[in-house]
Amino acid sequence: MKISVVGTGYVGLVTGACFSDAGHEVMCIDNNPKKIEMLHRGEMPIYEPGLEEIVKRNVEAGRLKFSTSVKEGTEFAEVIFIAVGTPPGPGGEANMTYVEQVGREVAENMTSYRLLVEKSTVPAKTSEHLKRTVLKYLRADTDFDVASNPEFLREGTAIPDATNPDRVVVGVESKRAGDLLEEIYKPILAKGGGKFLRMNVTSAELTKHASNSFLAMKISFINAVSRICELAGADVEQVAQGMGLDPRIGPRFLKAGVGYGGSCFPKDVDAFVRLADALGNEFTLLKEVQKINKTQREHVMKKIKQELWVVQDKRIAIFGLAFKPETDDVREAPSLYFVPELQAMKAKLRAWDPIAEGKFKEIHPDLETVPDLYECAKDADLVLILTEWDAVKNIDLAKLKSVMACPVIVDGRNTFDPATVRAAGFTYHSIGRA
Ligand code: UDX
Repeated sequence: MKISVVGTGYVGLVTGACFSDAGHEVMCIDNNPKKIEMLHRGEMPIYEPGLEEIVKRNVEAGRLKFSTSVKEGTEFAEVIFIAVGTPPGPGGEANMTYVEQVGREVAENMTSYRLLVEKSTVPAKTSEHLKRTVLKYLRADTDFDVASNPEFLREGTAIPDATNPDRVVVGVESKRAGDLLEEIYKPILAKGGGKFLRMNVTSAELTKHASNSFLAMKISFINAVSRICELAGADVEQVAQGMGLDPRIGPRFLKAGVGYGGSCFPKDVDAFVRLADALGNEFTLLKEVQKINKTQREHVMKKIKQELWVVQDKRIAIFGLAFKPETDDVREAPSLYFVPELQAMKAKLRAWDPIAEGKFKEIHPDLETVPDLYECAKDADLVLILTEWDAVKNIDLAKLKSVMACPVIVDGRNTFDPATVRAAGFTYHSIGRA
């Protein structure tokens, strides 16, 4: 089948590449000419393991092409996926400008039936707005459908997630739209397994909000437990293991740390809270999830302050800027809280991250970064771990200690076994381990 995907971010480019790899003919569209030029040169505008090979393979096979024109994409395919950015605005609400713009452009250029599929992380009820927009700007006398196909892929493992989905959720209003989407996913589900779930559009939109909010709740739950562990003298890693072996609970997303970040959890939880408020049914549980996530960072900051006593002029080495390993994404990353807060307290910062440094410096160009962990920690009074990169997990502790002014680690990701780090001569503060 022919498919257009608008937006070449983490969701759009991965989706387009995986559709083409499943045998479809795909056009990926982005209004940023720089991104499209990069893709034409075979360079990836984002970092995602395995993506470059898939893109290359399918471009060579003639199944994947790129364009800056939504008009061209509308002429090319009957099904158009919208995977453009919906960044949080100043008040925290998702900015829907780009989604609306794509809806308008598709409407203005379609001359026969088109199916618009929302795949971006969007607030529930977006499809209703999209439908109204298309109706307003439609020039031809033709049918169309709007569907929701929420994305569940994780950054860093986006390719295996997209090719072996647990489930594909589609929200549709017509059989035609549902059948088209089933046809698109057939080769992927035949190979990777997973269930195809057809439901109404709002249910599909809510499935995404509810899934991400539930996972965020698991993280906030274990982070709240971690604080009790610290006070009561327990070890949160052991508690999580003991809980997770119960299949009703499950072991995943029970890793205590400095809090969740990324482009999805904060935005999705917020959107769900706002939706519930707008419907007059306050979702207090999720408000608490947000509060725990926010105060978890402050809790780690307290550990830094208590350890250093005076933060001013102290050298702090930050290990990791990305919101999690294997991605260059810094959206809502804990580093975006710690760097300006510590700078305001006049600490001397130096940071290391293998791939997220560039994106972080677009926001904080003044942060000094270095490509080597030991150089980052040179003469430091404290190392702060914010992302559990493999290079951090595998660091040579003796060498680290030898370059630091004071061997102190505040570990926001429970990267190390406390006994090992302390035996190596460090003062070690981690999460939920008394
Ligand atoms: C998430 C969802 O997992 C995915 O289904 C959805 O499509 C997009 O949002 P992603 O944002 O890529 O994916 O990252 P994820 O691996 O879920 O981690 C999110 C955040 O939670 C990270 O900051 C991570 O460090 C943190 N986290 C995760 C924890 O603190 N503890 C955990 O146990 C798991």
